[in-house]
Amino acid sequence: MSTIQIIAGSNAKAPAGTISASIEHNVKLFQPITQKSITTHNRVVVSPMCMYSAENGSLTDFHLAHYGAWAIRGAGIIIIEATAVVPEGRISPGDSGLWSDEHIEPVRRIATFLKSQGAVPAIQIAHSGRKGSTAPPFLGNYTVSEEDGGWPDNVYGPSAIKFADHFPQPIPLTVEGIKHSVKTWVDAAIRADKAGIEILEIHASHGYLLHNFLSGNSNKRTDNYGGSLENRMRFPLEVVSAVRAVWPEHKPLWVRISASDFANPEVMGEDKQGWDIYQSIVFSKELKKLGVDVIDVSSGGNISYAKYPPPSMFQVPFSEAIRTKVGIPTASVGNIRTGKDAESILKEEKADYIVIGREYLRRVAWVNDAATELGVEVSLPKQYGWAIHRGRRTNKTKTEE
Ligand SMILES: Cc1cc2nc3c(=O)[nH]c(=O)nc-3n(C[C@H](O)[C@H](O)[C@H](O)COP(=O)(O)O)c2cc1C
Repeated sequence: MSTIQIIAGSNAKAPAGTISASIEHNVKLFQPITQKSITTHNRVVVSPMCMYSAENGSLTDFHLAHYGAWAIRGAGIIIIEATAVVPEGRISPGDSGLWSDEHIEPVRRIATFLKSQGAVPAIQIAHSGRKGSTAPPFLGNYTVSEEDGGWPDNVYGPSAIKFADHFPQPIPLTVEGIKHSVKTWVDAAIRADKAGIEILEIHASHGYLLHNFLSGNSNKRTDNYGGSLENRMRFPLEVVSAVRAVWPEHKPLWVRISASDFANPEVMGEDKQGWDIYQSIVFSKELKKLGVDVIDVSSGGNISYAKYPPPSMFQVPFSEAIRTKVGIPTASVGNIRTGKDAESILKEEKADYIVIGREYLRRVAWVNDAATELGVEVSLPKQYGWAIHRGRRTNKTKTEE
């Protein structure tokens, strides 16, 4: 008796979320894009989003199902959530980590599955800085005590300035501590490579350690790591340079930045001593020189008294400014909800990649919905496609009858 074996993986030639090569179209969202050795079948990126569900830093079955669902439904790149380079670099106890070799296998399992579906596995490596040892947002961001698995006496930043009253008191990193930290980022990058990750993103945004150093609002140091912009950029650039040296040349390196602290109510306003778009452009130029391939442009998160613009796609102008003034590919994120919005950002050359966060939590089949909205059809995973199309035909026949 012969057995028919169904391989649980999409057709490598046409992953879900692809427009058939035989169809002519000018929809940019579904044009493949190549960087270094990595080709992505569309421009859709799932934003890194902490799930607060790791066990001692290890990703679990939950994460396999969570990330796997997006890969099955055709996302081009999936960035695994902020993954701490040291245990005290987690935001919350349930954060993911790459500080130990034990973490490699759980990441490899997910990376392998994402690749089997034609998606590009990426991961964001991170250090929480002065926002460490806090509870997940759905529990209220309070400081987690040692008894509850926190590390409130082991929270670091550039200066002894709390993010907010109810946050832990950060200890200023010594120069020795800075040098050691650089090594921990490097070790995490090496582990990410061993796990089969194809794009590495360094988290330098949202008020975490590297952003704390960049901004004069959180960095009041008087040594070589504080004061002038050159000094404030020094530690983040040391991290990026050391990571680039070990991250394989053929694999892209992304850096996520916050383009402004929003200490100033004007969206594009200046905050010379703090952190603003003008300094972000200078920083991005330095990142480009170090061989960074994409700037993932976010904003905010560094000061509790920030004055944010209304929740529209207010980060897109930052992406456009960096892309134009620095001449580097950008990824744009923030309140991008529809396929039409995504397409217009790409067509107007304001970004090269579209990064979707919460809308992906709401609609797991975002890629398919966006394609429908843009009037094109993308491939579905073969395990679903035949059934859905058959269902459509059946309905049609019944209606016609
Ligand atoms: C549940 C949740 C977790 C998040 N975790 C991260 C993270 O790990 N790293 C990061 O850079 N941003 C994180 N963010 C921010 C998102 O990546 C994204 O930048 C933000 O939600 C804005 O995009 P959106 O409007 O498409 O959601 C998180 C957001 C949410 C909602």
